[in-house]
Amino acid sequence: MFNLNDIIRPNVLKMKAYSSARDEFKGAASVFLDANENNLGSLAGENYNRYPDPHQRKLKERIAEIKGVQPEQIFLGNGSDEAIDLLFRMVCRPGQDSMLHLPPTYGMYEVSANLNDVALQAVQLTEDFQVPVEEVLLNIKPTTKIIFICSPNNPTGNLIEQESITELLTAFKGLVVVDEAYIDFADTRSWTARLNEFPNLVVLQTFSKAWGMAGLRLGLAFASQELVSVLDKIKPPYNINEATQELALQALQREEALKDMVEEIVQERELLMEALPDLPAVVHVYPSDANFILVKVKDADNMYKYLLGKGIVVRNRSGLAGCEGCLRISVGTLEENQKLLQAISEFKAQD
Ligand SMILES: Cc1ncc(COP(=O)(O)O)c(C=O)c1O
Repeated sequence: MFNLNDIIRPNVLKMKAYSSARDEFKGAASVFLDANENNLGSLAGENYNRYPDPHQRKLKERIAEIKGVQPEQIFLGNGSDEAIDLLFRMVCRPGQDSMLHLPPTYGMYEVSANLNDVALQAVQLTEDFQVPVEEVLLNIKPTTKIIFICSPNNPTGNLIEQESITELLTAFKGLVVVDEAYIDFADTRSWTARLNEFPNLVVLQTFSKAWGMAGLRLGLAFASQELVSVLDKIKPPYNINEATQELALQALQREEALKDMVEEIVQERELLMEALPDLPAVVHVYPSDANFILVKVKDADNMYKYLLGKGIVVRNRSGLAGCEGCLRISVGTLEENQKLLQAISEFKAQD
């Protein structure tokens, strides 16, 4: 049986959260002299002289409605990158514990593990970029505290099979983090629907992709109420700034516009998927459930430089094991995608 308290670091279990001025006073008042703010006002605009709600109550209520979860099951981070870092700090004892990830995958799991002095265990995804469950299970050690699964996976673009994730959730007594940064572009249900079944499940999402708010830095971790309350205890008190809270709340009223944008991006993705294989320099186009496509090309390093020369920046992933010869290309606007296709069609590979 999974018991959260068994894996939380002893110092985290023991510590108390910082109690902010706005935690200690909750009633109505007209004169606030409790937080050393500038009561004359702000040079940035109305309200910005005040600290933001440390618990992001309004935002969480609205997100809970949209996502079909309880507000208490939501943690908000300064990007999902902050949630990744806090998960390490919550359960991994520096210099003792380890995490397991499945490359080729999102690079921040490794960076954050290194920063927190958490040992890295890597099990390569299979050739079709799925999780080799048996191998993962064989690699689990008593010190393994977190398994990161990215679905749809970055940079490969595919969803990870549900049965594999279920098997790991059932067999592993640590946290299984399913990173769904690109879930809005996939035709599937989120793992948030299964939070009540698996107390060791953490689902990451972000407002940086489909919602188009990468510049505002707002990421989400969905988990049991118990786990979320620990993340809340260890986060910096005001990690989501006032501008982000206000603007995100406005954006969350525009679900229809989100749907339209996602539809357009998926449509553009499908057009790229059709056109790319016909180009002579393209070797293989991997299926994608995300807003990017992994493309194996002839002479990837030179194509990358050639595209830069044309003012087009893509991500060169050819140095990653499992992605040899591959570029990762984000889906752009119709015009951008046409410019990209035109440029690739004129590329002369050195054999
Ligand atoms: C799989 C994955 N997870 C998380 C993130 C980070 O997202 P955020 O902008 O919320 O920090 C990214 C960003 O590219 C990503 O690709």
